[in-house]
Amino acid sequence: MSAEHDQGGPEQTLTARALADIGACADLASLDEARVRWLGRKGALTEQLKSIGSLPPSERPAAGARINRATERVQHAIEARRVELERGAVERALAEGAVDVTLPGRGEGTGGLHPITQTRLRIEQIFRQAGFDVAEGPEIEDDFHNFEALNLPPDHPARAMHDTFYLKGGYLLRTHTSPVQIRAMRSRPPPLALIAPGRVYRRDSDVSHSPMFHQIEGLLVDENVSFAHLKAALHHFMEAFFEQNLSMRLRPSYFPFTEPSAEVDISCVLCQGRGCRVCKHTGWLEIAGCGMVHPRVFEACGVDAERFTGWAFGAGIDRLAMLRHGVNDLRLFFENDLRFLAGFAGGAP
Ligand code: DAH
Repeated sequence: MSAEHDQGGPEQTLTARALADIGACADLASLDEARVRWLGRKGALTEQLKSIGSLPPSERPAAGARINRATERVQHAIEARRVELERGAVERALAEGAVDVTLPGRGEGTGGLHPITQTRLRIEQIFRQAGFDVAEGPEIEDDFHNFEALNLPPDHPARAMHDTFYLKGGYLLRTHTSPVQIRAMRSRPPPLALIAPGRVYRRDSDVSHSPMFHQIEGLLVDENVSFAHLKAALHHFMEAFFEQNLSMRLRPSYFPFTEPSAEVDISCVLCQGRGCRVCKHTGWLEIAGCGMVHPRVFEACGVDAERFTGWAFGAGIDRLAMLRHGVNDLRLFFENDLRFLAGFAGGAP
């Protein structure tokens, strides 16, 4: 049937309205609504088709054909619009997710060793050069190694100074690295020259105390080992560690596992002994504890105290790191704020 036959039918104006309506749909959802409006079960064109029954029989075939053509046109228009809208959606998604591959990359920041690790490695390096081994021991210790064998029997008053974290079954978190001395001496005979760096734990927390901190233990056992040798070794270590000439003094002190015992002071590394806030205007910094291994400790380890003598020391790695890097709050090392840590990235020990 030719186009003229469409002229004038009510479906002609309906088709025009339907096409305009479909063309105005801005997204797939409104297009679907339009489809229902025109072609759905109660749609305008469907209604037209239903009304054919009221025409005289002779007119029905022509009217039916016209309406079918109109329906087809509207269907085509809807399909065409759907393709258009879908393509538009894809293009928009592509445009939104567009990546400018010509932009320079952001790069990846390189990490670095934690300042405490750098400090530990530095200490190890200095002692290794002097022929010392690096030993390790467990952080979960038993009473024997942490206290008893170090001449701290159960009722010893010095135990109170350790604020120990106790665990079930007689275990505890080691309160110092000294138990590694015991493990070393019980596992092999002298001569022994070792350091033992590691984590230690005490129930303590403020600007200069953290419940977990780091210590370094030193032990030398051989024939004819003297206090003079201890002093020289520590003095050499301090000067190598801080890379400056330092004065050192030993003050008599008490530790159950050494006799005699001493506190080690060095001239302040920040003011060179003139007096400053860090050394509390004394010119001196307390940096370690030390002494000659107590005969009872040797006895607990099966070392012949008649033949061998030995010295030991213990120092805080965190304190050494703070002094070397001018950090005034111990907690900064354990908060792991990247802005703080980045200042140490790439640093050599
Ligand atoms: N273990 C002691 C402490 O944690 C430090 C110490 C002092 C270790 C003297 C030693 C030493 O080996 O001889 O306070």
